[in-house]
Amino acid sequence: MMKQKHLLGLEHFPADDLAKIIETSFSFKEILDRPIKKVPSLQGKTIVNLFFENSTRTRISFELAQKRLSADTVNFSASSSSLKKGESFKDTVQNIEAMKIDAVVMRHPSPGSSLHLTKYIDSVVINAGDGTHEHPTQAILDMTSLKERFGKIEGLKIGIIGDIAHSRVARSNIYGLNKMGAEVMVCGPPTLVPYDIQSLGVQITHNLDEILDWADAINVLRIQLERMDRGLFPSVREYRNLFGITNERLQKHNKEIVIMHPGPMNRGVEIDSAAADGKSAIILDQVLNGVASRMAILYLFLGGNQNES
Ligand code: CP
Repeated sequence: MMKQKHLLGLEHFPADDLAKIIETSFSFKEILDRPIKKVPSLQGKTIVNLFFENSTRTRISFELAQKRLSADTVNFSASSSSLKKGESFKDTVQNIEAMKIDAVVMRHPSPGSSLHLTKYIDSVVINAGDGTHEHPTQAILDMTSLKERFGKIEGLKIGIIGDIAHSRVARSNIYGLNKMGAEVMVCGPPTLVPYDIQSLGVQITHNLDEILDWADAINVLRIQLERMDRGLFPSVREYRNLFGITNERLQKHNKEIVIMHPGPMNRGVEIDSAAADGKSAIILDQVLNGVASRMAILYLFLGGNQNES
């Protein structure tokens, strides 16, 4: 079991529980290699996936994790719900909880929405991304993937490149990696790197070659045009020239740099296909580890039966 009831973010999450989730992810990954990829650990538990914002990886990954653990799952999509008839968020979630559920996995465009949800319901809340705030399960799967690749997280030098300002993935990774003893450097245009991000315990550079020279692994972020209300860089072409990850750029550094991306990718903008699909990329490993990590998270937060995994 975890010390906290909900997984809302990694900023205030205990380091030992974070390490426990990452270790448990490897046990669940072993189940994904079996011919029958299902265990009864969460039999009898009911989980609702509330998605108020688009998602491919997180939604499917949570659904698969729930099915692999034998939980009953219900999917809610805001666009086809009674929210469209004017029902409030509070009424919607309290009606869902009245049907006797155990947990809610929620993605929402508003920062703080997962914390807000805990005020209205008693079920366990798992944050699947709340606006620009946090995406804790993404950071956990990223750290699981780093541990799988390097055998450790402590002491690693991790670069996060791109739209730091709008990135919940960056924020959760910074909190999580710091707790696990890694060093973090962020890189992007000055308009996309908050001036006070150093207070989170990271180094800043606006020079792509400096971060590539320094890092063991880089996490490349998408430019989130949907969260920008004004032009924060002159053009996509200029962004690609200065910050795009290409094989030519990587080869200047004469060492292997592991490449990660949380997805969705804008190929030809923040990363070229040759780099995204190359031998140093672990982007699809991240996706598979996402299922294992979300199994570990659901299992540990919902008090699954250890003898049945
Ligand atoms: N990484 C991530 O959150 O992807 P989705 O938006 O597809 O869920």
